[in-house]
Amino acid sequence: MFYDPRSQDHGLPHNPWMALVAPRPIAWVSTVSKSGVPNLAPFSSYNTLSASPPFLMFSANAEKDTVRNIRDTGVFVVNVSTGPLAEQMNASSADFAPDVDEFRIVGLDTAPCRSIDCVRIAAAPAAIECRLSEIVSLTPSTGASCSARVIIGEAVGIHIDESVLRDGRVDPALLKPLSRLGYMDYAVVDKTFEIMRPAKPGASPNPETETAR
Ligand SMILES: Cc1cc2nc3c(=O)[nH]c(=O)nc-3n(C[C@H](O)[C@H](O)[C@H](O)COP(=O)(O)O)c2cc1C
Repeated sequence: MFYDPRSQDHGLPHNPWMALVAPRPIAWVSTVSKSGVPNLAPFSSYNTLSASPPFLMFSANAEKDTVRNIRDTGVFVVNVSTGPLAEQMNASSADFAPDVDEFRIVGLDTAPCRSIDCVRIAAAPAAIECRLSEIVSLTPSTGASCSARVIIGEAVGIHIDESVLRDGRVDPALLKPLSRLGYMDYAVVDKTFEIMRPAKPGASPNPETETAR
């Protein structure tokens, strides 16, 4: 089959778009409003943009509380979503009013940040403190109006709980990263394997691969 995703003319009972860009990591974004109310919401249109400098992005399909808080304060935290916290992650996605503290509603404690004025999820085994770099608006070629925003942040602090480290590496079996698939499906990474990067023909092993190890 072939279809133009701008028209949604796929002829299937459900839109396949998000099932094709999967698995996606889930940024569980914590922010604080201008008046000091903590906010928490998941975003799966999320990924790194660059390792060095360490930039990441996520997008929101509307001007949500998260976006407004980031505009107002210039900072946010991406808490790493994990299998054991999947239910709370999902509960925090409900459409609460801006003055509602989702941490309290879903039963999660906050922990302080070190390099920015924000809060993170105490129970998350890893969290990335970010400063806003820019907010980009999307412009569809159809000329349709669009309220989607891409939030680009620079990572300025990273918390990693010792419990997810093994032999000096973040071990997926311990971190249990949660990912979003299509429809209402999720996956927890529980099997991994290694493939070394190819070296230049005739050269010694690829230095990037060696550093990663
Ligand atoms: C797993 C998951 C992933 C989500 N990903 C996105 C996303 O990428 N973009 C988006 O706009 N909303 C996404 N949502 C919906 C938001 O979490 C939801 O609109 C939330 O209420 C926004 O909260 P806020 O108004 O406090 O920012 C996702 C929800 C779930 C459960």
